[in-house]
Amino acid sequence: MSALKILVIPGSLRTGSLNARLAAVAAHELARSGAEVTRISLADFPLPIYDGDLQAKSGVPKHAVNLKRMMAAHHGVLIVTPEHNSSVPALVKNTIDWLSRVQDAHEIRGQVFRERAFAVASASSGRLGGVRALAALRLILSACHATVIADQFALPFANEAYDEMDHLKNAADAEALKAMARQLIDISQRMM
Ligand SMILES: Cc1cc2nc3c(=O)[nH]c(=O)nc-3n(C[C@H](O)[C@H](O)[C@H](O)COP(=O)(O)O)c2cc1C
Repeated sequence: MSALKILVIPGSLRTGSLNARLAAVAAHELARSGAEVTRISLADFPLPIYDGDLQAKSGVPKHAVNLKRMMAAHHGVLIVTPEHNSSVPALVKNTIDWLSRVQDAHEIRGQVFRERAFAVASASSGRLGGVRALAALRLILSACHATVIADQFALPFANEAYDEMDHLKNAADAEALKAMARQLIDISQRMM
């Protein structure tokens, strides 16, 4: 059987992003559990704000097509999103909106969401860890017919959550992250 591949997508471009940091820790956990992991930055896939006129005139931008194809080359996807005003940031929503418009040959539109497992995680310096963004992200992915695994991970007070080795200080947090990584691998394997 070919190696199980997981794509990890941090939903922030910010230097020093708490979510990019959590994505790195999650990627490490997924790799420890046996997955082949690709961690990207959305900075490498810049997209304009979705505009139907733009799509009608020029088609779906090549960065959206490339990101869709990268997703299609993986069996599972982890999105690590910030919370902005109790929901997902525009970057994450806009990326998903464009991805949902990609239609490669012999595919239905947005097919990439239907055929692989997704996990969602968040980090925030606040008390709730971005859990409301996770609820919003689940809803968006479900609308795209994605399978979103039950386990999720929200990291509160994320600016002080790591020790000097970049490990999560709180054992319950570390366990929850590990459980989510294993579930993503398990379900991705079943969907292969
Ligand atoms: C426009 C905006 C809205 C925000 N709203 C929330 C929020 O609703 N809940 C929350 O926990 N943090 C909120 N924050 C704080 C972010 O969680 C915090 O800036 C976080 O570090 C952003 O993620 P990043 O570090 O990965 O870039 C908000 C930040 C911005 C800029």
